[in-house]
Amino acid sequence: MLFSQRVFCGQLTPNDVGRKVLLAGWVDAFRDHGGLLFIHLRDRSGIMQIVFSSEVASADVCEQAALLRAEYCIAVRGEVRKRLEGTENPNIETGDIEVLVTELTVLSESDALPFAVSEKAMVAGAASASADNVTEELRLQYRYLDIRRPSIRDNLIARHRIFQCVRQFLDSRGFVEIETPILTMSTPEGARDYLVPSRVHSQSFYALPQSPQLFKQLLMIGGMERYFQLARCFRDEDLRPNRQPEFTQLDIEASFIDEEFLYELIEELAVKMFAIGGIELKRPFARMTYTEAMDTTGSDRPDLRFGLRFIDVTDVFPQTNYSIFRQILQRGGCIKGINVKGQSDKLSKNVLQNEYAKEIVPSFGARGMTWMRAENGRLESNIVQFFSERELEALRSKFGVVDGDVLIMIADSSYAIVTSALGQLRLHLANRLGLIPKDSFYPLWVTEFPLFEATEEGGVTSSHHPFTAPDRADFNPKNIEELLKLKSRAYDLVVNGEELGGGSIRINNREVQRKIFEALGLTEEDMRQKFGFFLKAFDFGAPPHGGLALGMDRTVSMILQTPSIREVIAFPKNRSAACPMTGAPSMVKREQLAELGLLNLGGPDILPGTVENENMIDHLSWVSRIGITAEERPMIEDALAQAEELALLAAQNAGNEDPICTVAPAANRMRPGTEGKRSALSDTGQLLKSAPEVKGNYYKVASILE
Ligand code: AMO
Repeated sequence: MLFSQRVFCGQLTPNDVGRKVLLAGWVDAFRDHGGLLFIHLRDRSGIMQIVFSSEVASADVCEQAALLRAEYCIAVRGEVRKRLEGTENPNIETGDIEVLVTELTVLSESDALPFAVSEKAMVAGAASASADNVTEELRLQYRYLDIRRPSIRDNLIARHRIFQCVRQFLDSRGFVEIETPILTMSTPEGARDYLVPSRVHSQSFYALPQSPQLFKQLLMIGGMERYFQLARCFRDEDLRPNRQPEFTQLDIEASFIDEEFLYELIEELAVKMFAIGGIELKRPFARMTYTEAMDTTGSDRPDLRFGLRFIDVTDVFPQTNYSIFRQILQRGGCIKGINVKGQSDKLSKNVLQNEYAKEIVPSFGARGMTWMRAENGRLESNIVQFFSERELEALRSKFGVVDGDVLIMIADSSYAIVTSALGQLRLHLANRLGLIPKDSFYPLWVTEFPLFEATEEGGVTSSHHPFTAPDRADFNPKNIEELLKLKSRAYDLVVNGEELGGGSIRINNREVQRKIFEALGLTEEDMRQKFGFFLKAFDFGAPPHGGLALGMDRTVSMILQTPSIREVIAFPKNRSAACPMTGAPSMVKREQLAELGLLNLGGPDILPGTVENENMIDHLSWVSRIGITAEERPMIEDALAQAEELALLAAQNAGNEDPICTVAPAANRMRPGTEGKRSALSDTGQLLKSAPEVKGNYYKVASILE
């Protein structure tokens, strides 16, 4: 077989009619019409219908072809011909032509499939098979088959195109692609680190990077001026649909620049990337400060594809008779509301009162809500009689009310509760009422974030990361109140309510950086230990610099409009951060742990396993309510060791080298007794000697043993 002669299925056109071709790929689907066998042959480029006809192919070839099944890997030779009129298939791009086969080679057979790979019906108008009903777990377990499906294949190819576009664009702007270490030290991005033990440096660990933040800044100090990397990042954090434990960032940093440089750069790049998905983004992107975003949408990543912006009506009710509002305002609270325009037919009194006020809004954290419907030039509600005509008129004018509108207000003594609950309600209503326009994209820069957030312990933590420049440097790092008022020079790129990226102008002054660390509660010793090397670099002429990172999985997923970021990652982890195909993360052998010096991490004088055994004995003693004396311990330790050996033996006999761990939940197992036998010791009282509670000839069992 001369594979050099091979042509791609998807590249043949009616211009190739009459051409003799060699095709190779997988059997996507087949239809047997007696003397004629039709097969959809699929390769990465597309599908070609191949035809085995007993009039053209030898009996041998036809016999072999009859045995072909889905996903057999084959090569065929044949001639391209036009399809008979009326048999064209618009489901595939090459649907006007087919290849009449003369030779067939089965390159590799396939077992029965766990789910259908084929997505293209062989007959015009027929429904195609689909893996939509297959569980994601199964798809991930057989991800290589899933990748054969054209939809996943196309996602990966589009991802490649987007990455190529990034590389070309940034190269044209003087950015240099540089790799930074994967085995490194902790980078502070707010998640837990994935640790990698070092064999050479016993009991020491590398951390996988949460981002290349420190290195890209060091590259700026190193004079590289413009850097980028399609960087793999690792974060051990609670998983959400748009999060993966390892993900890819487009990481960018540049020197001698300001915010405007980055906005311009990223906007131009985003326009190019989205164009690959046929999406036109309009420039310049909108901008909104963090404060305005919170005030008007209750979110720091607002979805601006629809209205329902908050209006503050606190000043409408300074001396209101409505006692709920009055009390809240006396406690320094606020009242905000939204006007759901023209939706009163969908939001009846019943829905507003019984669904929203009683159920939905309380589930968003607010105690309740007030609603009013505009009808016949008046505002109607269950409590409208408590409001003065002046107050109702002020509401009408503030919200621009016309008949058919519905006003919803939330009041609380906490600004955070009002904005959070109203923000969730805003999204709920937009989804329920279909207010979000399909196929529309609204990019937005959110700016002027607070530099710090308060911690529960009464300190502060960085809202972005500790290298972000504050809006002013003359602050007192010990004054929490002042720290919480500082703004940062950070910005997020938000599209349709999803944070695609974030970055900041960095601190390039050693003293300011130290003050930030001090504000975060780091002692001199902490600073030296954690960031000594980094702070040192600032002693050698650090240039002003800044940058940003775009989450590429989220960006590609948005461009391709996939339901989850897992659809654009070749081998993603599932919702519990595991890989159903490889079984990662998996247990390792004790020898490996020993080699890495991890068996006795507790301290040099504690022998491997001893701590666990001690705990196990205490646990046994507690569970059984039987006191175990110091003399009895060695005996029980011995019994436990024997039990462990037995378990190992049992596992090995079962054909496994390693002991098996069960994933089944632990439960008490009862063994039916055989014949009752009374121990002679029970008569002498010896049997129950160390039992803590004895009743007659029995001892009382702890209630946790059911
Ligand atoms: P940040 O932490 O905001 O910034 O991350 C940048 C972008 O990375 C994406 N992202 C994720 N994507 C998938 N799964 C995850 N677990 C995940 N976590 C983050 C998001 C996010 O906006 N070093 C800074 C950037 C800088 O300051 O230049 C950083 O990493 O889309």
